[in-house]
Amino acid sequence: MISKKMEMSINEQINREIFSAYLYLGMASYTASEGFSGVSNWFNVQVQEELAHAQIMYNYVIQQNGRVIMKAIEEPPQDFKSVLDLFEKTLEHERKVTAFIYGLVDIARKENDHATEIFLQWFVSEQVEEESSASDMVNKLKMAGDSENTLLMIDKDLAQRVFNPPKTK
Ligand code: FEO
Repeated sequence: MISKKMEMSINEQINREIFSAYLYLGMASYTASEGFSGVSNWFNVQVQEELAHAQIMYNYVIQQNGRVIMKAIEEPPQDFKSVLDLFEKTLEHERKVTAFIYGLVDIARKENDHATEIFLQWFVSEQVEEESSASDMVNKLKMAGDSENTLLMIDKDLAQRVFNPPKTK
């Protein structure tokens, strides 16, 4: 059993995770239209990850006899300048998500809700990876600069990314 406040707060995070999927789907579409099929693949895998995050939270709320309410999904930004711009925006977005996850942990701690605090630890660790992979890409792309060859190599590399359903236990 979780409090109404905790239930509503996780509900909001579920909406944000689905928004993240929507944001990355837009980025996948942008890069596909620009001819970067590997980068597009990377973002499509990211979409699946975000939907999995939302599903994990959904399962938890249901398990705790709560209810998940579907709210409208905000329209994500769709004007991008370059592949580097996409990953900079991804990093910025993931940092915001991390702050929201920390906010959920704070609520769980305040309420002495140990079960939810433990549940959220997986997301705390996941955010370290989320920020790190976006940050690595920003660094690689900055190093690549204007080199088209390097950008094509990065694109080829990102084509290899596959979705591995997260293991939360
Ligand atoms: Fe669900 Fe990218 O964090």
